[in-house]
Amino acid sequence: MCRQLLNSPCSHLLLPFLIAIAISEIFSACSASYADVDPLPPISSGDHKEDHHQHYYEYSSEFSSMLKTRLEKAAPPPLASSEIFNVDDYGATGDGEDDTDAFKEAWRDACSSTNNGIFLVPCERIYHLKPITFSGPCNSHLVFKIEGTIKASPHISDYEKDRRHWIIFQNLSGFTVEGKGIINGNGRKWWLNSCKVNKTLPCKDAPTAVTFYQCTNLRVEGLRFRNAQKMHLSFQKCNNVKALNLWIYAPGNSPNTDGIHVTGTQFIAIKNCHIMTGDDCISIVSGSKNVRAKGITCGPGHGISIGSLGAGKSEAEVSNVVVDTARFSGTSNGVRIKTWQAEAVQVSNVMYQNIRGTSASQVAVKFDCSKSVPCQGILLQDINLAHKGKNDDKSTQAEAACKNVKLKNRGRVSPQCAGR
Ligand SMILES: *[C@@H]1O[C@H](CO)[C@@H](O)[C@H](O)[C@H]1NC(C)=O
Ligand SMILES: *[C@@H]1O[C@H](CO)[C@@H](O)[C@H](O)[C@H]1NC(C)=O
Repeated sequence: MCRQLLNSPCSHLLLPFLIAIAISEIFSACSASYADVDPLPPISSGDHKEDHHQHYYEYSSEFSSMLKTRLEKAAPPPLASSEIFNVDDYGATGDGEDDTDAFKEAWRDACSSTNNGIFLVPCERIYHLKPITFSGPCNSHLVFKIEGTIKASPHISDYEKDRRHWIIFQNLSGFTVEGKGIINGNGRKWWLNSCKVNKTLPCKDAPTAVTFYQCTNLRVEGLRFRNAQKMHLSFQKCNNVKALNLWIYAPGNSPNTDGIHVTGTQFIAIKNCHIMTGDDCISIVSGSKNVRAKGITCGPGHGISIGSLGAGKSEAEVSNVVVDTARFSGTSNGVRIKTWQAEAVQVSNVMYQNIRGTSASQVAVKFDCSKSVPCQGILLQDINLAHKGKNDDKSTQAEAACKNVKLKNRGRVSPQCAGR
């Protein structure tokens, strides 16, 4: 059933079931209140119909009780006063043609609405977008609801003005992006043009799929991101963010496709996210504070990293980070802190708790801090990371590499830093 939900959220097979329970779903028959139900299954190209039936019967009672709970729990949406701005009403076709202008017009109206409008990208179709910026401030608290697929223009020439961004949300407050939809960066062309993939090519910028810039009281929930051109999701100079139940997928060999990048952002909770990419699952840099990542599955990918952005850029401190309950599988590293010798970057108060799984490299824990400003207040609690190479049947003892770090172990910690 989950796959059915994934591949066809408007499934007619589900409808009678949903209508019976979710009778109050008025504005969109294909979506809304079961946003949390999908346990984010792996993608598959298998036969979805069969899977559908199998899962449907297996999980139906659980599903229905979850649905009920969710409906009871969820505050009723302010439908009476919400206006819906459906991109289809603005001429979006989702038929392979570019839909950027329709999205811009729908945004203009939604953002000027004073009634907590809903910007709706309806389900089933694939909407193609060139680089686009959704700017605030808006006149009320908007919900940006994505039920269908948004796919990036594959033409590199469309990014001439700004090669570093595809979708930007900026200067928004009290803003929500949610839905069961997919944001697809269509990144293959960019990967093939990456100097990491083809060493004869010059190194050039590639776009981050979705950037939130200077947003406050932001919630991003339930969406699926795939095949970003570069990073999938970046929170930049934001304050008070919740990123929940996200599913991020790109091939393990895609270059620089970080899952979630946090920079200059304070008070951010990243919860229940499944991240499979070619670079860091989560990277936290440049003055980010009060970051909490909980319930993360990561791999393939480079693990969860703090503090590294690239030599030569001066960075502010990163502090108060909690990584709680993470599972790694075949990540090239597990957890990592890196600061650059030349920069006085302080990384302090980082707690890793309940971290398990395997790392594809021998070094599963790596703290590489500078001598002048050591990393401080690092706590490792209940860590169990093993080494398991790509072709190994069994996992073996992993290693920790630790330089200039002040840390404490609590509970069972493996691997441990030696000779501090
Ligand atoms: C953000 O909004 C404020 C008004 O609230 C405005 O003065 C400012 O120019 C905006 N900044 C950007 C980057 O759009
Ligand atoms: C690498 O890029 C060069 C220059 O565009 C191209 O001729 C070559 O075919 C590329 N190699 C691969 C393996 O794609």
